[in-house]
Amino acid sequence: MAVKRIGVLTGGGDCPGLNPTIKGVVTRAADFGIEVLGLQNGWKSLVEAEPNYIPLTVDDVRPIIKQGGTILHTSRTNAYNKRYTDYLPNLVKNVEKLGLDALVAIGGDDTLSVASRLTKGDNIDKPVPCVGVPKTMDNDVHGTDQCFGFDTATTLAVEAVQRLRDTADSHNRVIVLEVFGRKAGWTALYSAVAADADYVLVPERNPADLDGLFAKLREVKKRRNYALVVVAEGADHPDLDVWAGEIANSLNGTRLGEMSVEIDSFGHPILKERRVGDWCAYRIKQELGWDTRTVVMAHLMRGGQPTLEDRILGARMGVAAAEFVQQGKFGYMTALSGGDIVPFPLEDLTDAEGKSITRDVTPQWLEFADILMK
Ligand code: F6P
Repeated sequence: MAVKRIGVLTGGGDCPGLNPTIKGVVTRAADFGIEVLGLQNGWKSLVEAEPNYIPLTVDDVRPIIKQGGTILHTSRTNAYNKRYTDYLPNLVKNVEKLGLDALVAIGGDDTLSVASRLTKGDNIDKPVPCVGVPKTMDNDVHGTDQCFGFDTATTLAVEAVQRLRDTADSHNRVIVLEVFGRKAGWTALYSAVAADADYVLVPERNPADLDGLFAKLREVKKRRNYALVVVAEGADHPDLDVWAGEIANSLNGTRLGEMSVEIDSFGHPILKERRVGDWCAYRIKQELGWDTRTVVMAHLMRGGQPTLEDRILGARMGVAAAEFVQQGKFGYMTALSGGDIVPFPLEDLTDAEGKSITRDVTPQWLEFADILMK
């Protein structure tokens, strides 16, 4: 099939590196005489009655390699969300209407799971061939050694820990930094190790080892007046809910914590009000009597200019995605493996039950952190 026109979209949370990727796709596609339409707001662009898009030329994308966010905007829309029966028919109609021969979907496991199903023709009459590009600052997409966005986000978290060190030291405090990392603790682990924090809590070690944390802080207290703890937002412990209840009582029923968790279009909890960092700081104060503060990095980690590494990785993946399209390599994502960009089957991102496989922090990495954070 000679591809003449493709659509490119970004889905899920934004992260630095999306614009370099878009630049890579558009610029390389032009070499093959392939026209590119920028689909706006992720899958939302195609599932509504009218498609939402902008034509993209090489001139349009020339200056965007240094820009954070995504010029195409994004959303967490799931084209296969069963609640919206018009989504898939609209998508098929819009793909036809725009004359798109294929799509490049840039996103995390959710966005890529839609790309995989469309390529297979799941629940639609005619398959929509897709190429995927993995992204997430959480760095937890299975099948690739690294995602762009991670380096920029984690570099900022390292900077944050370093700055917090000054204040923790000056005020004789424990400061807890909560970082993004819903399912995997890569950002927490990297920033804790690289900024010499004293302890790190990651989802891979749930339930969190509170006793281990207290023991470490007691030991730190013998030799210095301050401590630094990094907590991934996905860290958990049954006591977190107990604490939320205690706070609720003290506030006359305004309950914080677990009860505020919402579910997104892909069925995942949105952890925005969970306050795992506050819980951790509160328990440290209770146990050790040490003055504590919490800082939540949250979306600060997702904005800003991409680092050198994220610019180059994003652009490489974008170029490779256009090449996959040209070669008819549909149903694959551009994966980083041993320094090279290689095809990885989209269908292998899920297990036999269709559940996303997360690229968790491995026991070897946990051991590495333990060694350095003694
Ligand atoms: O993109 C992944 C992520 O950064 C998670 O770590 C976090 O839980 C989530 O996005 C937050 O998403 P939103 O922007 O929808 O609040």
